Amino acid sequence: MERLTSPPRLMIVSDLDDTMVDHHNDPENLSLLRFSSLWEEAFRQDSLLVFSTGRTLPMYKKLRKERPMLTPDVIITSVGTEIAYGKSMVTDDSWVEIMNHKWDRGIVEEETSKFPELTLQRDCDQRPNKVSFFIDKSKAQQVTKELYQRLEKRGVSTILEIKIIFSGGKALDVLPKGGGKGQALAYLLNKLKAEGRLPVNTLVCGDSGNDTELFTIPNVYGVMVRNSQEELLEWYAENAKDNAKIIHASERCVGGILEAIGHFELGPNLSPRDVSDLFECKEDNVNPGHEVVMFFLFYERWRRGEVENCDAYIASLKASCHPAAVFVHPSGAEKSLIDTIDELGKYHGDKKDKKFRVWTDQVLATETTHGTWMVKLDKWEQTGNERKCCTTTVRFISKENEGLVWENVQQTWSEESEMKNDSNWII
Ligand code: GLC
Ligand code: MG
Repeated sequence: MERLTSPPRLMIVSDLDDTMVDHHNDPENLSLLRFSSLWEEAFRQDSLLVFSTGRTLPMYKKLRKERPMLTPDVIITSVGTEIAYGKSMVTDDSWVEIMNHKWDRGIVEEETSKFPELTLQRDCDQRPNKVSFFIDKSKAQQVTKELYQRLEKRGVSTILEIKIIFSGGKALDVLPKGGGKGQALAYLLNKLKAEGRLPVNTLVCGDSGNDTELFTIPNVYGVMVRNSQEELLEWYAENAKDNAKIIHASERCVGGILEAIGHFELGPNLSPRDVSDLFECKEDNVNPGHEVVMFFLFYERWRRGEVENCDAYIASLKASCHPAAVFVHPSGAEKSLIDTIDELGKYHGDKKDKKFRVWTDQVLATETTHGTWMVKLDKWEQTGNERKCCTTTVRFISKENEGLVWENVQQTWSEESEMKNDSNWII
């Protein structure tokens, strides 16, 4: 977040399962990829991406390995009881303190064990400030009421204050009263405000019971995705249906987020992936991030054989390179960038029917000296289940009438890359 010198234009705070990630209807993650390229092209530079999930941190990391997910600026896990920042996920220690205030896991375990209706979730879903169960939907209301009464009674003589959240028609979480996705967001907004970085707009996105609180935070826009759970839609019907800042999207999952960006006019919502002619899509302003996102999107389409095998495309790419531009391959080999693009010409359609996808993450541009730009990003490439990632730096110079000229590209294998195979990596 430190990179932002002024208030972020938009902060998206989104749930993951069945909001960002469609577990039922999009095996190729196309909606997620559409969102990702829009975010990187149009928002990454001046906006904040926050994930707020019921998952624990290890389970979030697992999802990240399974899906083409972007790196958020802030990750709120375990139903709003843990907050971490940046790529390296630095824990918010002040939040840990708040979560430990008036909390006693032992008492929660003791009292909940008296309810045969509650089945403990797996160990990997339990956390210091989150005790999670499964429960039959028909029993949820009654058990929640009785459990509150019991724990409140215990709370008088001890120091316990809790909240109970029912989600997804089957999960019941017991958390510290000051925890939950809503409280975590309120805390984050306060922190940003104190730093002079209160977002101009905030959009919260969710599908189930543990997201309800997000929609209660003052002044935020909200989208309940089309496939939202009954418990969230019921809450909305009873408490928020007159709030014009909340919509129930007609699109599923992350498609609903794109819909909400458009509906509330929070910025552009046409994904670069929905543009058929990438070469036509020139920006009016100098936007090196746009240039890079478009290049790698073209690269994906070229290798998938989805664009015509036409020399003019390769010629046009070469024309935007400086004649002496250098490409440092992750193997360390230095090549001419123009020769590399010539080589790419030979690979038209080689990944057809191979479930090949390319996406860019954390695309950030800085102007180093007047007219010279450095863009840093992670470039991911997946074929079937095999994925690789290179940390990539591109240097551009911006020339009157010529637009951005590619001067230098350098790649090194990212720590996150499971494979580091030099031999079949083009760029
Ligand atoms: C996620 C968590 C689970 C929790 C549920 C509802 O699925 O893994 O532990 O109960 O969200 O908040
Ligand atoms: Mg969800």
